[in-house]
Amino acid sequence: MLDNQLNFPAGFLWGAATAAHQIEGNNINNDWWPREHSGDTNIAEPSGDACDSYHRYREDMTLLRDAGLDTYRFSIEWSRIEPEEGHVSRAAIDHYRRMADTALELGLTPMVTLMHFTVPRWFARDGMWRSPKAADRFARFTELALPVLGEDVKWVCTINEPNIAAMIAGGEDPANLVAYALPAPDLQVADTLLECHRRSREVLSGVGGVRSGWTVATQAFQAEPGCEELAHDYGYQRDDWYLEAAADDDWVGVQAYTRTIIGPEGPRQVPEGVETTLTGWEYYPRALELGVRSAWDKTGGVPVFVTENGIATADDARRIDYTHGALTGLHAAIEDGVTVEGYLHWSLLDNFEWTSGYRPTFGLVAVNRTTFVRTPKPSLAWLGRVAAANALGPHQQ
Ligand code: BGC
Repeated sequence: MLDNQLNFPAGFLWGAATAAHQIEGNNINNDWWPREHSGDTNIAEPSGDACDSYHRYREDMTLLRDAGLDTYRFSIEWSRIEPEEGHVSRAAIDHYRRMADTALELGLTPMVTLMHFTVPRWFARDGMWRSPKAADRFARFTELALPVLGEDVKWVCTINEPNIAAMIAGGEDPANLVAYALPAPDLQVADTLLECHRRSREVLSGVGGVRSGWTVATQAFQAEPGCEELAHDYGYQRDDWYLEAAADDDWVGVQAYTRTIIGPEGPRQVPEGVETTLTGWEYYPRALELGVRSAWDKTGGVPVFVTENGIATADDARRIDYTHGALTGLHAAIEDGVTVEGYLHWSLLDNFEWTSGYRPTFGLVAVNRTTFVRTPKPSLAWLGRVAAANALGPHQQ
């Protein structure tokens, strides 16, 4: 053991995350697909075949495992499992169970997300999260998903980024999935998402070893001098409220990418000359440490799981640099007593980045858009080495 390395706690989990619509391909029955194909969309390009991971998931998981990582977070697509209300596809449930089996067979710990932004078209048409039936429907979907979890999936995320979901609920195509570019959250939707989460957790509490939570986009709101109150009010309904609501959960997910500075006019654009990534976000690795500390604080000490952290860049050396910085901050938070269960990088693959299409590349693995051939980037091997050592070496590595 080197004395200049940062050691992580025994049993710390290391892996990468994905989401169904962003990698599977041809999710023609969810709410995003028609938006991608409508005439007046601002979605850069349709998701199409995505990474064809609906068929190639074993290859994806094998790449992750062979690199030295041990955990894979993926989501199940509600619109495949319940294509029309009350009509259940047993074949889709079997498919996702095969994914969990494959992960376990490869020695990976699976984390299953029940809802990662996309919902069935019928659900969207009928009021979406504003329907009085939303919570019943989500609880029923959770029951449908139980065979996917079986007896051996321990980690379950009910809802991915409910705070972002409440901001994009208006149906406007968001310009960019970060707070400074998003409409204000719909607070009624926020309440409903919380009710959905609680109902879903009730269903999951009947299942042996499941530990469930939701994953929040922590946005590191920072005030310019004199704007503290404004920053608090702005940030509370976009971030802290969702962390506080997780106080009774088994764990809370932190998804951190960048920070948002609040000035007298509200959120500020990134100033000229400051390094930005392919999504236009400020290059700010410290976001992770701030998100983790805030989650621990606001929940009153609920174990944290880093369920997403990463950077869209065409320069893989910057990805390693960013991740090194983020993990250094994470380690400092752990040293100060924050319980952190694991770190999952966003994302395993270059994938469909919502309104921005395929241009912003977040992956540890590149995917050829025509042949679907996967090419691991040096960052995959780098993160695998960190995982295998359960320690972060000096930056030159
Ligand atoms: C989401 C992912 C997204 C990533 C980068 C998170 O908001 O959970 O689906 O691709 O951040 O924008």
